[in-house]
Amino acid sequence: GKVAVLMGGRSGEREVSLKSGGAVLAALLRQGVQAAAFDPAERDLHELLAFDRVFISLHGRFGEDGTVQGALELMGIPYTGSGVLASSVGMDKWRTKLLWRSAGIATPDFELLDASSDFAAVEQRLGLPMFVKPANEGSSIGISKVKQSGALKAAYELAAKSDPLVIAERFVGGGEYTVGILGDEALPIIRIVPANEFYDFEAKYLRDDTQYLCPCGLPAEQEARIRAEALQAFRAIGGRGWGRVDFLMDESGRHYFLEVNTSPGMTDHSLVPMAAKANGISFDELVIRILELARV
Ligand code: DAL
Ligand code: MG
Repeated sequence: GKVAVLMGGRSGEREVSLKSGGAVLAALLRQGVQAAAFDPAERDLHELLAFDRVFISLHGRFGEDGTVQGALELMGIPYTGSGVLASSVGMDKWRTKLLWRSAGIATPDFELLDASSDFAAVEQRLGLPMFVKPANEGSSIGISKVKQSGALKAAYELAAKSDPLVIAERFVGGGEYTVGILGDEALPIIRIVPANEFYDFEAKYLRDDTQYLCPCGLPAEQEARIRAEALQAFRAIGGRGWGRVDFLMDESGRHYFLEVNTSPGMTDHSLVPMAAKANGISFDELVIRILELARV
């Protein structure tokens, strides 16, 4: 059958998506799969009815958030990754954290902000530094690390440009890590040592001095426990197929889950391909495995 690789789209992560989709398409073609690029920003989704399967390489809104997944459900075309609910929840960092908190999965303490928030009180409660992020965005767009007293409101206003839902999150400073999920398996953990103060857009895509450590340096027993928990965190939001769960570690070795990416990056800087490689799975194999897990 013929595979459409959905890429581009209308979110703030359009450029990243074009890179992910380009890499996925090239892998499919190398493996002899009949495949073509499909940009929903430029074409009518109904044209997807000419395809037998869809590989979703869209990031952010109108792609990673359940909307495209819902359209594909209605059209009856199998697609890669999570379904409607998990995609919607995964796109929303606030609701992901609410759900995790009620499921007993550790996540950094947080608060929802709006224009009428008592910023001084939030600063008091969460302490400095803290992170401020739009709830529905990816690739660290709109995220600030607030270090100075009084700077929270400006950080809120910046984040609110991306999404009206903005969260403030307590700082956890022992290290940034990520766990790729493939099928029923959590892949080896990667530790990220960002070139900037945190793993922001520039450190993600523009710098080549961000370091990625895999093996991540944690004791084997602790790594195994966290991988199992990452799979639980993924399943708690209903994730399926593949994805990536990010977490932070504090100085005392406690970990806190941050978010789920239901359509993680597949660029040459991306993390799931790196983790798969550490498990002996090449990029081409990874793409085929994800495609085989596609469902309606
Ligand atoms: N949102 C980016 C693409 C990622 O999670 O990899
Ligand atoms: Mg994300």
